[in-house]
This record gives sequence, structure tokens and C-alpha cells, in this order.
Amino acid sequence: MEISRIFVFTCCALLLCTTLAYGQANSPPALVAMSPTPTPAPAYVNLTDLLSVAGPFHTFLDYLELTKVIDTFQNQANNTEEGITIFVPKDNAFKGLKKPSLSNLSDDQLKSVVLFHALPKFYSLADFSELNTKGPIGTLAGGQYTLNFTDDSGTIHLDSGWSKTKVTSAVHSTDPVAIYQVDKVLLPKAIFGTDIPPTPAPAPAPDISPAAAADSPSAESKGSSSSPEPSPSTSSCHRIVNLSNWRQLVLAVLAGGVVMFC
Ligand SMILES: *[C@@H]1O[C@H](CO)[C@@H](O)[C@H](O)[C@H]1NC(C)=O
Ligand SMILES: *[C@@H]1O[C@H](CO)[C@@H](O)[C@H](O)[C@H]1NC(C)=O
Ligand SMILES: *[C@@H]1O[C@H](CO)[C@@H](O)[C@H](O)[C@H]1NC(C)=O
Ligand SMILES: *[C@@H]1O[C@H](CO)[C@@H](O)[C@H](O)[C@H]1NC(C)=O
Ligand SMILES: *[C@@H]1O[C@H](CO)[C@@H](O)[C@H](O)[C@H]1NC(C)=O
Repeated sequence: MEISRIFVFTCCALLLCTTLAYGQANSPPALVAMSPTPTPAPAYVNLTDLLSVAGPFHTFLDYLELTKVIDTFQNQANNTEEGITIFVPKDNAFKGLKKPSLSNLSDDQLKSVVLFHALPKFYSLADFSELNTKGPIGTLAGGQYTLNFTDDSGTIHLDSGWSKTKVTSAVHSTDPVAIYQVDKVLLPKAIFGTDIPPTPAPAPAPDISPAAAADSPSAESKGSSSSPEPSPSTSSCHRIVNLSNWRQLVLAVLAGGVVMFC
């Protein structure tokens, strides 16, 4: 037992010196703490909550949840300085939607149609008179999915290229969230302009590679334990009695033994 302790002590000292030298040469660069940008937290508006009590906007809310666009909208409301403006058709606007139907759209097209109902910026009703002159305004659907606005002595008209409608009431208008009720579902020219385009071919399924065979480490158990304490992280070399994995244990106690031995 005494010999074992002396042997282990020597190992501790030797490994300590080599490890310290090695560690100094290879010390990782200190992480630079990122200073959080101080953004004032705007009042949280729960869009789901708001849309489920106003309206009735249940159909639009169903589409928002079906396409998960509700998360995009909520994220835009939560986390951007620009905020969001949403045009919400009432339930009966969807009932009147017979000729071009939403039922034949692909998932991506349906998502674009829903995103088309929001602008990536908060606009009060008064702001729309300026949009009059600015030409097509980009929606959250991006790209060619734009809306034209005209302010007709206080009444805001929207033109999607396919459908013309107007704002009939303001449901909510406090920066950063504006929600306006509209008469009709906004159908983007980009989808409905000529004819409903054929649905794109589904993306090819990714190759499913067979799971790599997990090689189980061979557990070799020699040497019975004579120490009741299983903890290898003690700061003393005395407890090291399991010589079959002494190197590992010595390394473990080095951390604790640095102060003691140097
Ligand atoms: C928002 O409101 C809905 C409906 O009331 C509720 O289910 C949901 O938990 C709310 N979300 C948050 C983040 O509070
Ligand atoms: C929006 O903020 C609320 C309250 O902080 C949070 O519960 C919700 O998860 C956030 N949602 C998104 C999409 O960021
Ligand atoms: C939708 O598809 C169905 C069958 O595929 C067809 O009968 C129907 O006319 C289509 N509706 C529109 C609006 O294209
Ligand atoms: C918007 O107005 C511009 C002219 O300012 C016109 O060229 C464009 O076609 C209109 N877009 C829609 C979707 O009505
Ligand atoms: C001793 O080492 C062997 C092999 O590494 C291991 O299986 C056993 O659990 C160890 N015993 C103690 C008490 O650490």
C-alpha cells in the first residue's frame, strides 16, 4: 500500500509538470463576452389571443395556424423594431371565395397567400396616405408579392392585382402591432394572376443512410475495488488504489492537486 502511494505521488508530480507546460502552450483563447444589445421590450401582443376574440376571424386564424405563419407574425411582432401590420379578412370573406379557391393550392402557395396579408412594418391608419405615392409595397410573402394602397379621403383601398378591397375597421393599432379588418381575402397576382400554376414536384426524399453500427466499448473489468469511495475527483492521491486505470484517475486529481504539490 505504501509503495503504491509513493508510486502514485511520483506520477502525480511528473504528470503535473508536463500537463502544466502543455496546458500553458495550448490554453484556449478566452471567450469574449457578448454585450447584449439593449432593445426596449415592447408590450407583448398575443396575436392568437387577439384574433380569436375579435372578428370573427376564425378561418384566417385557422390558416395562420395550419401554415405556422402565426409564428412568423408573432416573431415579427415580438422581435423587430419595425413591427407588423396585418390585414385580416372576416370569416364570411372566405365563404365568398368560390371562383379561385384556396383548396387547390400547394402548401407553399397557401403559406405565401397567408403571408401576403401582412406588411413587415407597423402602419397607423394615418400612415397609409403616404403609401399612396410609394408604389407597390412589399408584404411578408416577399418578392413579387406586393400590395398597392390608395387613400380615398380616409378610406384605405388595397389592390393585390387580383382582388381589390378596403380596410373596414381597425382591430388594433398600437405600435408595434396593427391589425385591420378587410372585406376580402387578398389573392396575390403572383399566384392567381394568370391561372393557378401546377404544383411544383415534391422535393426528392433524402437518402436514408443505414445507421452506423455502434461499436460498443469492450468493458474489461480487472482488479476488484477495495475503496468504498467511488469519487475520482477527490483532491488526494491516497484514494487511488485502482491501478488498472491509474492514469485516468491521476489526471482527474491533478486539477485538485495543483495547489497542493506546486
Ligand atoms: C396566446 O394566446 C393563446 C390563446 O389564448 C394561448 O393559447 C397561448 O398560450 C398564448 N401564448 C402566449 C405565449 O402567451
Ligand atoms: C413572443 O413573446 C412572448 C412573451 O415574451 C413569448 O411567450 C412568445 O414565445 C414569443 N413568441 C415568439 C414567436 O417570439
Ligand atoms: C380544384 O381541383 C379539383 C380537382 O382536382 C377541381 O375539380 C376543381 O375545379 C379545382 N378548383 C379550382 C378552383 O381550380
Ligand atoms: C401597383 O401600382 C403600380 C403603379 O404604381 C402598377 O404598375 C402595379 O401593377 C400595381 N400592382 C398591383 C398589384 O396592383
Ligand atoms: C478499476 O478499473 C476498472 C477498469 O478500468 C474498472 O472497470 C473498475 O470499475 C475500476 N474500479 C474502481 C473502484 O474505480
